[in-house]
Amino acid sequence: EAAEKGGYAHFMLKEIHEQPRALRDTLASRLDVSSGGVKLEGVNLTSEEARSLQKVVLIACGTAAYAGMAGKYIWERLLRLPVEFDVASEFRYRQPLLDEHTLALVISQSGETADTLAGLREAKKHKARILAITNVVGSSVAREADDVLYTWAGPEIAVASTKAYLTQLAALYLLALYLGRARGEATWALELARELACAPSKVEKIFDLEEEIQELASNLAPHEHAFYLGRGLDYAVALEGALKLKEISYLHAEACPAGELKHGPLALIEDGTPVIALATQEDLLEKMLSNIKEVKARGAWVLALALEGNEAVAQEADRVLYLPRIHPILSPLVSAVPLQLLAYYVAKARGCPIDKPRNLAKSVTVE
Ligand code: G6P
Repeated sequence: EAAEKGGYAHFMLKEIHEQPRALRDTLASRLDVSSGGVKLEGVNLTSEEARSLQKVVLIACGTAAYAGMAGKYIWERLLRLPVEFDVASEFRYRQPLLDEHTLALVISQSGETADTLAGLREAKKHKARILAITNVVGSSVAREADDVLYTWAGPEIAVASTKAYLTQLAALYLLALYLGRARGEATWALELARELACAPSKVEKIFDLEEEIQELASNLAPHEHAFYLGRGLDYAVALEGALKLKEISYLHAEACPAGELKHGPLALIEDGTPVIALATQEDLLEKMLSNIKEVKARGAWVLALALEGNEAVAQEADRVLYLPRIHPILSPLVSAVPLQLLAYYVAKARGCPIDKPRNLAKSVTVE
């Protein structure tokens, strides 16, 4: 097992570090940077089919669902197509309205999650077109979908998903390019493709922050609660960041859309409460800054994540992790990684069994 971990203390840390490679593998052969086009083997919607889509429904669980939630923000903004988000176990039982103009987007690392599969079958019954993103070739989800885009993350061993999440995001950007061009509305394609191609090297730069993150984790480790705040795409990433911390460190972590603070969570902020504030969405920056002030005024200790050059954040937060500058719509690719590292080092400081957290399984094949 030590050999399989390639010198890392845990599979999770190894998998976090594999992300630049996993991203490159998922993107490189498919992305044409000179035209903004993509070649996606296994995805066969014609222009006519893509144009006839009226909405997208997401079917996924856990981390894959949070990748999908980021996808909702990304696709709605780029494709101007409504995307419904709920987790597969809710989707199945809410009698969703689907027809042949619906695209059911199924995301599953393993391709075997029971609720996700059941959701897929429900969508199929209503004649929705099933498009799957999965990491396992020939998995149940892959076999039952109409179209499949594989993530090339490689085997993921740690229960807490990291490289699968990042490559699911990459797949969502690739599919946005595919559908945008097929629907004939992709003036943004060239810029997005170029920026996307640079993402793996930006993710690599995050590891320069690793020591600092380890030090920050030691501040967090003695606490029992932590709050993650964000707006827009940052909120989707906050959910995933909080999930990572919960899963492996057993610290209670709650993600909150920053605008909802006043509607409840603010009551829980007291002296020293750790708050992780994501502030990569610069069109929402003023609002985030005022949310940071709001929690600081109640005594919170604030660790912010911002894009390089954003000095205003440093004036409000206790600490800032500056991330390589990237197009704001691609920010989850760089902001998710420090949150994975933070969860990892908090769990390590608390002496938790990182790769196999209590009560959790890698693949949930029963309901
Ligand atoms: C379990 C795993 C998570 C994963 C979720 C969905 O809860 O511990 O890491 O995100 O299942 O799994 P899937 O294989 O469908 O992506």
